[in-house]
Amino acid sequence: MEKEYIIAGNWKMFKTVEESVDFLKALNEKINTLPQDDAVEILVFPPFTSLYAVKGISSRIKTGAQNLHFEENGAFTGEISPLMLGNLVDYVLIGHSERREIFKEKDEDINKKVKTALKHGFTPVLCIGESLEEREAGKTFSKVEDQLGKDLEGLNLVEIEKVVIAYEPIWAIGTGKNATPEQAQEVHEFIREILQKKIGSPETTRILYGGSVKPANSYDLLRQKDINGVLVGGASLKVDDFFGIIQDSYKLANG
Ligand code: PGA
Repeated sequence: MEKEYIIAGNWKMFKTVEESVDFLKALNEKINTLPQDDAVEILVFPPFTSLYAVKGISSRIKTGAQNLHFEENGAFTGEISPLMLGNLVDYVLIGHSERREIFKEKDEDINKKVKTALKHGFTPVLCIGESLEEREAGKTFSKVEDQLGKDLEGLNLVEIEKVVIAYEPIWAIGTGKNATPEQAQEVHEFIREILQKKIGSPETTRILYGGSVKPANSYDLLRQKDINGVLVGGASLKVDDFFGIIQDSYKLANG
């Protein structure tokens, strides 16, 4: 069976409006050298300020928001509601470890955000993953299971199927030290098992790996049975690097 991939770029707090527009125009040109292939979905998460400006630049690159608030309106200074994201994005990143660690988001908030995203027709990309301390203490699986349980609580089967999971070990994010393909595969398989218990059809869930993905390691990661794509931070800020990763997914989708 042909494998389908999502190649997603998380730009974090990088790129002005102009830089975002220039980047996507340049990336679009490169992507247009590849044949149209529905088995690969390309997605970027620019900062909020760039979303309107980048709309329509490429019919082959989808966009997502890096966060959203779970209320539709209200006295929440500095927050962005699902109504404001309106038809600007298809995806929303939820529960990135930087949101959890630096901005103190709790599983309870993340669960509300997942529900809000689904209610408004966005596909949530839910990030989970263990810290170095947890990995060294042999708690990787229990951490991931705990996060999935809390973050997906109260969702019905149809809703759970729509959620994309991004497994991002915290020790691999921005460190240049990626999980080996075997380490990543092992956790992805475990996540699939957990979801199978919840929904009974694990094959349908798309599970991405994130953490120091770059052209030098993307092929071997994407080749793993339970890896359906990658969430790329640093390497998604450079057109050539991000395109290199996209090219790997094309090779594998058609191989
Ligand atoms: P990185 O970031 O690729 O720079 O490690 C990944 C992420 O934070 O999603």
